[in-house]
Amino acid sequence: MKIFLDTANLESIRKYNDMGLLDGITTNPSLMSKEGRNPKDVMEEITKIIKGDVSLEVVNTDYAGMIEEGKRLRQYGENVVVKVPMTADGLKACKHLSSEGIPVNVTLIFSANQALLAAKSGAKYVSPFIGRLDDIGKDGMNLIRDIKIIFDNYKDDFKTQILVASIRHPIHVVDAAKVGAHVVTLPPTVLDKMLQHPLTDIGLDNFLSDWKKFKAGNPDI
Ligand code: E4P
Repeated sequence: MKIFLDTANLESIRKYNDMGLLDGITTNPSLMSKEGRNPKDVMEEITKIIKGDVSLEVVNTDYAGMIEEGKRLRQYGENVVVKVPMTADGLKACKHLSSEGIPVNVTLIFSANQALLAAKSGAKYVSPFIGRLDDIGKDGMNLIRDIKIIFDNYKDDFKTQILVASIRHPIHVVDAAKVGAHVVTLPPTVLDKMLQHPLTDIGLDNFLSDWKKFKAGNPDI
């Protein structure tokens, strides 16, 4: 399973990229605004740091605007994936950009039918938002299970990858991997939690204090 970081924060991107953990990045207008910097500089830097796919989202909502903006975003690098919303115009833009060899991530997917249509339009990725479904009392992971079954049933027709988005905690990641989703996109806080285990910290403290005691009792060794 590929791991993407869901952020426009360069410090976090560098931190986890230096550990070799990142296969790509996803951003959206909210994440981009949160940084309070010129988005052009941020996009330029992200696409330089990360070799894998970087999803940059359009803010136009009409077909022509999305095509123009998508082509402009693609100029940041060959690894740019244009992110479009799951709307009629978004699917039309997805078909157009995909047919010109520009990969597309269709975002704001909340049903299996939406994922099916985005795949038909030629999307490289569909982004189902599981946390936002959980937030309204629906089981977001069930949506991932349904999409996986559908895409597996038509492997020859669909090459679209399931990019699990709106992840809130590490259990979402384990469950997405069990279901066989292709990609998870994680907020830095979730990736940080995945690194940690209290028994790792206790174990390391014990090793180091035993070593310290041994050295104190054996100064010549
Ligand atoms: C996906 O590409 C989105 O950027 C993101 O996962 C949305 O997550 P949120 O529901 O935490 O805003």
